[in-house]
Amino acid sequence: MTKTAVESYHAQFARDGFCLIKSLLTPDVAARLVADVAEDIHRVGMGKFLGQTNIHSSPGLEIYSHDYKLLNSFQWGLTGMVRDITGANLTPGFAYFQIYREGNRLFVHSDRASCEYSMSLTLAYSDDLPWDLTVSDDIVDHSAPDEGKKVAENHGDAKYHRLTTMPGDAVLYPGYGRRHGRLEPNPNRWSAHIFLHWVDADGPHAKYSFDEKVKNTKVDFDVPRA
Ligand SMILES: [Fe+2]
Repeated sequence: MTKTAVESYHAQFARDGFCLIKSLLTPDVAARLVADVAEDIHRVGMGKFLGQTNIHSSPGLEIYSHDYKLLNSFQWGLTGMVRDITGANLTPGFAYFQIYREGNRLFVHSDRASCEYSMSLTLAYSDDLPWDLTVSDDIVDHSAPDEGKKVAENHGDAKYHRLTTMPGDAVLYPGYGRRHGRLEPNPNRWSAHIFLHWVDADGPHAKYSFDEKVKNTKVDFDVPRA
């Protein structure tokens, strides 16, 4: 990404609290990434990854970075750029790959504190039909009881923004601080996405760095001479 583009996204993020990043991945890279993940999924069987939470209307396929290290490398590679766009001293939290099925809804919700800065990256739509993400203008008051646990069909009276993404496009937004969702059912037979979350290393949620998985990163190699 060019310096000018990063500066432009930085200005948008500072002004609006979110930004739509067009062509974060080129279409061929997005397609190849899905193909590589699909190969790994089919090797172990799809049933292992089926899951559903209260923010989804039906089960989908989820693979977390704790179980699939490729996602860690992907997120760590993006961290410098996302840090420049947000202007915050970001450290990676966790990421996951998700396949949504046709008709699936993503109810309007806010994320947990480890999702201070979030990215929703679209990789593929089986039928080339965009499925918009919406992000609220209102800031979630997490000091109020159960405010962070609210799950709704829509944004109610809050003003919200509709963001259309095609494969390779990403939305950067505060997952913890702003409610978000997809108001229509998925029009595609399936769609593939990666969700990535960071926290500010200098902020109140810094403990979620690397999803609280503290690891001694001091390593040594005793490489054989022959
Ligand atoms: Fe979310």
